[in-house]
Amino acid sequence: MRTLPITLEKTDIPVSPLIFGHFIEFIDRCIGGGIYDPESPSADREGIRQDVLEKVQGLRPTILRWPGGTYANIYHWKDGIGPVEKRRKRKNLIWGGVEDHRFGTAEFIRYCRSVGAEPMLCVNMASGTAEEAAEWVEYCNGESGTYYADLRVRDGFPEPFGVKYWCIGNESYAEPDLGAQHLPGRYVEDGWEFVKHMKLMDPTIRLVFVGALEDEGWTREALEAFGPVCDYLSLHHYSAEGDKGPYGSFASLLTFRKALEDFLPLLHEMSGSAKPLNPWYRFPGREAPIRLAVDEWNIWNSAKKGPDDPYGLRMKYTWRDALWTGMAMNTFIAHAEDIGITNLAQLVNVLAPIMTSGDKSYVQTTYHVLKLYRDWAGEKLMRCSFTSPSFDAGKAGMLPEADVCATLQRDGTAVLFVTCLGREEVTLSLPAGYTGEESVVLTALSLDAVNTPGQESVRCTRIPLSGASVRLPPESVCAIRIKPTEEA
Ligand code: AHR
Repeated sequence: MRTLPITLEKTDIPVSPLIFGHFIEFIDRCIGGGIYDPESPSADREGIRQDVLEKVQGLRPTILRWPGGTYANIYHWKDGIGPVEKRRKRKNLIWGGVEDHRFGTAEFIRYCRSVGAEPMLCVNMASGTAEEAAEWVEYCNGESGTYYADLRVRDGFPEPFGVKYWCIGNESYAEPDLGAQHLPGRYVEDGWEFVKHMKLMDPTIRLVFVGALEDEGWTREALEAFGPVCDYLSLHHYSAEGDKGPYGSFASLLTFRKALEDFLPLLHEMSGSAKPLNPWYRFPGREAPIRLAVDEWNIWNSAKKGPDDPYGLRMKYTWRDALWTGMAMNTFIAHAEDIGITNLAQLVNVLAPIMTSGDKSYVQTTYHVLKLYRDWAGEKLMRCSFTSPSFDAGKAGMLPEADVCATLQRDGTAVLFVTCLGREEVTLSLPAGYTGEESVVLTALSLDAVNTPGQESVRCTRIPLSGASVRLPPESVCAIRIKPTEEA
């Protein structure tokens, strides 16, 4: 049996609570038929499915992004306010079907409040205008006394919603998507109009600009141009098996990690070299360093489509995918210094941890991992030094047997998160000065296990610990609480 040593170093780097974020879009049955379903017996008077809501509340999302995604390119927020029966229906030109917009801005804000999440809105740069985006800011954040703020009051909300996070476009580099901003110069030119209109309306909002790890030219130009006002740079990551077999998504995640690490020097350089904002803009510039918003991430095997699912959105997540989720969370925590926000894409029915099936709802394997991290992560990053042996994952190459990150709690205890990918048990020898207190271990009967409405395949075991080492089963996701020894 191999014993793997781990050492830890305390830091003052906060782990942003906003890394536990989620995303909902007008796409397939994510909102209509998932979050919102007035026809369901589980819906309340406002049409919100309570069985789904309870499961979302279990994840305690800290931030929720809406209304897209790609759908943001055709979303006109005025379609989704006022009396529901009068709202405008439109064809969903992106994902198919018709949207009736009965779930609009006020419903979204109410939903965020019922799950305790900060709202994050994405404006329409394709078929919308900068003025329309600023009017949305006014509707959400304005004090009564102007036209759109008064419409919010009319809709039953005298107090401003106080929406802080605004995404300036979505994946605007994607040439096939609607919108004329796929060349960075045009994104910058149009984007600045949005910045000016929106920031003049509410100078306190935080802006998220589109970046792309795969396109350094785009990202450099966007950072150079928006540096003085860029609070967050958006990055999206979807892992996929591709042609690398069942472990292909892990290889894809490791490629993302490497690209992220290679990109950070550029982010820091651009963040530090931004010019101060000319006072004639009449709103303040950015004060803090630019951080990353990984505002869409997940496994998406889009090649595995079906006749009713042309984009492969209805992913059934296996236990292997849940291990991937642990490794993705480790990546975000390990980069706490630079990553300020992450949003799993998406929350219900589409690439989702929560599914509905008629009147029933259930959680996928990945849900348990997301909940484990949300419940156990501490406030500060601990740097880990750990070398894992590798195992042969076939066409995906060599993968680490164990992947680790650590956080520090306010009470001085630390939590190690360990994803054991390999087929062998792992024994960790705990860092000097610490002793084990308790662990939570998630496992399943097989890597291909999935959950269904009637069957829960993930097992959660809580184990009291003592001593200086801990044994972890193969193919597991674990949180291990360790405390300083008396002598430490
Ligand atoms: O999450 C599904 C889609 O993936 C989003 O609409 C888009 O932003 C991304 O390409």
